[in-house]
Amino acid sequence: MIQATLHQLRVFQTVASHGSFTKAAEELFITQPTVSSQMKQLTQTVGMPLFEQIGKQLHLTDVGRELLATCQEVFEQLDRFEMIVADIKGTKQGRLRLAVVTTAKYFVPRILGYFCQEHPLVDIALEVTNHQNITRRMLENQDDLYILSQPPEDILLCNEYLMDNPLVLVANKNHPLAGKTNIPIKSLNNEAFIMREQGSGTRQAVQQLFGKHKVAVKVRLELGSNEAIKQAIAGGLGISVLSEHTLYSEELELTTLDVKGFPIKREWYVSYLEGKQLSVVAQAFLQYLHQHTQKNGVTSSIAS
Ligand code: PGA
Repeated sequence: MIQATLHQLRVFQTVASHGSFTKAAEELFITQPTVSSQMKQLTQTVGMPLFEQIGKQLHLTDVGRELLATCQEVFEQLDRFEMIVADIKGTKQGRLRLAVVTTAKYFVPRILGYFCQEHPLVDIALEVTNHQNITRRMLENQDDLYILSQPPEDILLCNEYLMDNPLVLVANKNHPLAGKTNIPIKSLNNEAFIMREQGSGTRQAVQQLFGKHKVAVKVRLELGSNEAIKQAIAGGLGISVLSEHTLYSEELELTTLDVKGFPIKREWYVSYLEGKQLSVVAQAFLQYLHQHTQKNGVTSSIAS
């Protein structure tokens, strides 16, 4: 059996995630020569190179990639063990790794805040990103739980419904269609439109609807942030489609348009990899999520 120490594996994992000895040293509060000597010893123990340097870039070798996956499993098991011990002692303790789509950031942090008040020894790693990146993170088994719409069908997942996530058509309140009702979707032809970036689930849903009705909008701008899109609409750059949950009542410059086909009906799910052994903390949060969400949003006990 390979005689590597846990410390060496931790250093290796940190180097691999940053692609840099210097950054790993900074994160672990150790010197760079210590990182180098730990990696030298680990390489000797494994008997094959773990990294290769191409130009200034550090890359993992095939063996390095295998070791990284092993480290992930080892540390995950140890974290789980720590949580079980804490749970037996009567507390919830440990790290919760969560990745959510951009639209879910409008309710997840609030629920997390309340959850952490109840469990002050839990710490959180929250990643907010688009649908495509969530899918990649799932394939790499990077997180405990995922919150997204339209869970991918080609990954084996357990998906639990959380709440509705209607996508609405948002315009500047001075837009000529503002206030009209039952507007035919064809009226959107040639409208200046602000589109989410490639890989966004919202973008995919919009393109599907427009494709189905053969609507051709004029994409003036692509933006990767819901907040930036709202600013662009307020600035008169065009209309866009956003999750209704991204809109606040005080956004006076914005309005939703009553166009047929809208809102696009979507739902948020909390998902985890099938076969994943959820940690004590992840199970507790999953239960908490279900207790504090309902069809149209978070429950009144934690709503603003
Ligand atoms: P997005 O997520 O950030 O990928 O657009 C929203 C969704 O998938 O509903």
